[in-house]
Amino acid sequence: MLALSALALVCSVAWAKEIPVDEDRAARMYDSGLVHESIMAAKHKTWAKTEASGAMNSAQYPELGYTPCVDGVAAATVSLWSGAMTSPTLLTTPWSWTKKKNIPGDANNSFRCSNADLYHFLAHADLGSSGQGSSSWGWTSEDGREFMAIGQQDGAAFVEISKEGKLVYLGRLPQASTPSIWREIRGYEHYMVIGSEAVGHGIQFFDMTKLLTLDPASPKTFDAIADLAGYFNGLPVGRTHNVVVNQELGYAVSVGAQPRTSACRSGLIFMDLSDLSNITSPGCSGADGYVHDAQCLVYRGPDAKYNGTDICYGYNEDSLTIYDVSNKANAKIISKTSYEGASYTHQGWVLDPMNQEYLLLDDEYDEEEQAGLAADGFPVTYIWDIKSLEAPKQTGYFKAPVRGIDHNQYVIDGLTYQSNYGAGLRVADVSSIPADPTGASVCDVAAFDIYPEDDALPDGGLIDFVGSWSSYGYFKSGFVVINTIERGVFVVKLTSKICT
Ligand SMILES: *[C@@H]1O[C@H](CO)[C@@H](O)[C@H](O)[C@H]1NC(C)=O
Ligand SMILES: *[C@@H]1O[C@H](CO)[C@@H](O)[C@H](O)[C@H]1NC(C)=O
Ligand SMILES: *[C@@H]1O[C@H](CO)[C@@H](O)[C@H](O)[C@H]1NC(C)=O
Repeated sequence: MLALSALALVCSVAWAKEIPVDEDRAARMYDSGLVHESIMAAKHKTWAKTEASGAMNSAQYPELGYTPCVDGVAAATVSLWSGAMTSPTLLTTPWSWTKKKNIPGDANNSFRCSNADLYHFLAHADLGSSGQGSSSWGWTSEDGREFMAIGQQDGAAFVEISKEGKLVYLGRLPQASTPSIWREIRGYEHYMVIGSEAVGHGIQFFDMTKLLTLDPASPKTFDAIADLAGYFNGLPVGRTHNVVVNQELGYAVSVGAQPRTSACRSGLIFMDLSDLSNITSPGCSGADGYVHDAQCLVYRGPDAKYNGTDICYGYNEDSLTIYDVSNKANAKIISKTSYEGASYTHQGWVLDPMNQEYLLLDDEYDEEEQAGLAADGFPVTYIWDIKSLEAPKQTGYFKAPVRGIDHNQYVIDGLTYQSNYGAGLRVADVSSIPADPTGASVCDVAAFDIYPEDDALPDGGLIDFVGSWSSYGYFKSGFVVINTIERGVFVVKLTSKICT
């Protein structure tokens, strides 16, 4: 009997699939905020421990220059740029490096890697902050210059990524109320949309063209409100967990704006961006309660009924919830689907926005909970067939080869760029999914592990909320920018996009 039930468990684990939401469990554990609060508490505990150990003081992490990945390790030497930079025009001239201190064999500056070289690292302290890092997003100017907004506890740091892959600090937009570790950033045209979990913060819209004429010799601190292109102050108490933008239709969405008892139930709160000087909300949807993250797109795909419809894919704690948001004052749920092992449905991205047949979903708590497929602690990415928006199917999954927790991922040209906390940036080729939706043909392309502190642990990683929060891999130059919680910002570049 025992053997049989053990076998049954193995089978159900191996064949994880979509299941209806268990409404009773949802009410008890998710709608109540219980699971979300326990995750936030776990994060606070980890971060307090890191703080107490001194490792959160980013000023101790030295600047690192170009370091190739050799035999699976980028063993950095601490370097300093030897020239004096006085104007942005110098960015096209070659950089030269003088070695300040050679640290071969320093485990804390030796990064496991595969098909990715390090170009530059700068600590948050060197990017104007006294706090830790979170989200980030990039913008490319009309003439091809590449800029980033880096989320930090005390605001957003602005940098230019030089032609040589160096982070050039230009200035910052301070937080608009009190510091918070949770600061999320997305781009909209030439603006950055910045929200925070801090009460009273609101959503900042910053015009990135202001950076074009800044002189890195004297970084500029903007005013948190007066220098904004737009400011949305219509959230229940000013805090939001994340911000989402529909680029094509020109609207933004706040998700996870607490409290859960507010009229919009921390669901989708829409912002009309047609006049940034007067951002108004055409409505909200609390139809499925709290939304943790979302992707809002014009639907293009095989489900003819919804062709051209304005939809949002919601990552709603215990479900993938797909909404028709054509009417912002009365969004409709198209479907709400859970899956075996669902612990905290966190974020996801469609494989191809021009043909929305599949999406990838990450669950932030299944590794920690050792739930379902994630019982062994290797981050699981769930593959969903969304050819029918009304009945999405979970067709398979794939796992990253280093233990850890998966956080944010973005699919760009058939590659998914995942930020797996302590396991760092992991890039997998997911272009095989339409032909093989089981995920068995997904393969690893590249990796850069920005958190050497956990490398000696079994299977190379810690199941904890450390290391990378997000990466931005959309730059034409190929530079991928990784923002980390403790240290600062890494610029890396893939040396191959072919599976290892
Ligand atoms: C590496 O970092 C850890 C954690 O911050 C620290 O305890 C250790 O002393 C560091 N090792 C070196 C060689 O600096
Ligand atoms: C802002 O937009 C709203 C909605 O379109 C409008 O009613 C209001 O008059 C506008 N306010 C200003 C100051 O333009
Ligand atoms: C969706 O609409 C576009 C444009 O109207 C059309 O070209 C396409 O064939 C439609 N697709 C489906 C699946 O109906």
